[in-house]
Amino acid sequence: MNGIRIAPSILAWDLGDLEGAVEISVKGGADQVHLDVIDGHFAPNITFGPGTVKALRRRCDLKFDTHLMIEEPQKYADRFLDAGSDLLSVHAEVMNGERFDEFFRTVNAKGKEVGLAIKPQTQLPKWASAKLDKISTLVVMTVNPGFSGQTMDMSVMPKLQRMRALVEERGAGTDIEVDGGVEPENVQEVVRRGGNVLVAGAGVYAKKDPIAAIGVLRDKAESARRKD
Ligand code: DX5
Ligand code: ZN
Repeated sequence: MNGIRIAPSILAWDLGDLEGAVEISVKGGADQVHLDVIDGHFAPNITFGPGTVKALRRRCDLKFDTHLMIEEPQKYADRFLDAGSDLLSVHAEVMNGERFDEFFRTVNAKGKEVGLAIKPQTQLPKWASAKLDKISTLVVMTVNPGFSGQTMDMSVMPKLQRMRALVEERGAGTDIEVDGGVEPENVQEVVRRGGNVLVAGAGVYAKKDPIAAIGVLRDKAESARRKD
């Protein structure tokens, strides 16, 4: 199984100070920065676009994990890649096998990674399990897309466990990223169920000491892993 990775979601910080948000990620020793792109159609919020990603890229060398919660990911893929995204995750709900292949080709041509995200109520589609070798990260959402600061939906845990079993069975090496409501109180359960990339918005940025919060999540996650 791949190592634990901590991915702070900057959506939870002051949106007027995104430079400060990435700085916190760097100082806290995060592995990647999670960038939530929402278009007001796929989910009921509007966040930022490739211009913002590009501006942040100039200020930070960490891996950029861009989570596209948008209706037409293919239309914008190149712009997010050129802006500096390293991992571009798309939602299964707006894809089918053919569209995914096209998206994969676009991302792969630029030497970047493809992620596939699923909402809490969505099961991994058959076409996706057949293409696991093309998916570097499965993003298992534990809140409905739209906003930071929601409570984790624990009913997703059995699905998370099934995703882990599938990845291990196939020897695919796919990361399993858990996104939504990750906090120090539930991160160990998430790791025990098979998550290894942990997105945290409020779990980092709403804490009194956000830099230290990254370390707290990492220590807890790693100790849950050791107890396996
Ligand atoms: C929700 C986003 C999440 C969210 C995470 O639409 O995809 O990444 O910002 O924030 P927390 O950890 O606060 O739920
Ligand atoms: Zn996200």
